[in-house]
Amino acid sequence: MNARFTLLPGDGIGPEIVTQGRLVLDAVASRFDHTFTYDTQLIGGIAIDETGDPLPAATIASAKESHAIILGAVGGPRWDDPTAKTRPEVGLLGIRKELNLFANLRPVRTQPALLDASPLKRELIEGVDILFYRELTGGIYFGESTTSDDGKTVSDAMTYSEYEIERIVRMAAEAARSRRGKVTSVDKANVLAVSRLWRSTADRVMAEEFPDVEFETVLVDAMAMHLLSRAKDFDVVVTGNLFGDILTDEASMLPGSLGLLPSASLGSSGPGLYEPIHGSAPDIAGTGAANPLATILATAMALRHSLGLDDEAAAIEAAVETVLDNGLRTPDIARGGPAVSTSEMGAAVVAEV
Ligand code: IPM
Ligand code: MG
Repeated sequence: MNARFTLLPGDGIGPEIVTQGRLVLDAVASRFDHTFTYDTQLIGGIAIDETGDPLPAATIASAKESHAIILGAVGGPRWDDPTAKTRPEVGLLGIRKELNLFANLRPVRTQPALLDASPLKRELIEGVDILFYRELTGGIYFGESTTSDDGKTVSDAMTYSEYEIERIVRMAAEAARSRRGKVTSVDKANVLAVSRLWRSTADRVMAEEFPDVEFETVLVDAMAMHLLSRAKDFDVVVTGNLFGDILTDEASMLPGSLGLLPSASLGSSGPGLYEPIHGSAPDIAGTGAANPLATILATAMALRHSLGLDDEAAAIEAAVETVLDNGLRTPDIARGGPAVSTSEMGAAVVAEV
């Protein structure tokens, strides 16, 4: 098949890891006889530097015409000035909103070869396999922000409408049907009115439409604890934007490194956006120390979710597992042992594919 990708390398280690993702896609194209084309565009800090806008119109136009978007990371100390007119993160939030990518899928699976890379005890993490559905275009990230006249009181509103909750809960429940058949919804209904709407809506959708799927509700503070004490009990977890942001960073420590976790952001139609869940790591940018595996695994998610190429996606995932089984490690997972560079890791995956 012919597929068009928009590449958004962004800032920090973004360009290095997206390059490796692209090389892996090329390897898949040649092995499975596809034609993949790429259009590289600006986003984040580099887009501010070059155009003044963290999300230039050309980037949105290219993204809308693609089958899938591969993003590296945005942000860095260069653009951290709190008085600046705009910030790199505005580009990321903007493209999510612009393309209506309301569902952020973040799979957290421990890799057998890396059980000792986790700061947690082996018996707590062996066999962990959780798929987070984080709501991505609503909640406090997109609520009204106000500042009092004297500048001493600021508020960000956390807002959800019923339809936003329904559609993400449905997507999560459908995914659970082809997994272990369990959904956990996370909220803070003992305090927040918006969480009480979240809870009653989730309860109703699950009871009316998914009686075959096991369903439970957990408060977000308790969930933070359960992820460390009994992560194996969870299958699909669905939650709002802010709670999902925090819990998925916490959960990333189960497999041992943020450098291993991909994510997919999907709408009900149109291209999806695929990215590592880690940030731009400006401290190691350009040193060859970045782990490209999260981005490479994100390209696998792109093939599966946006192009329906399940075998190709599985080939990438198997290649990653093999290179890890063979002992290849970037510094983040080497635990002080011998490490390979970003491009050596990428080349090893290419060779396996
Ligand atoms: C993420 C990131 C972003 C978020 C930042 C960079 C705006 O932390 O994708 O989880 O908070 O959504
Ligand atoms: Mg985050």
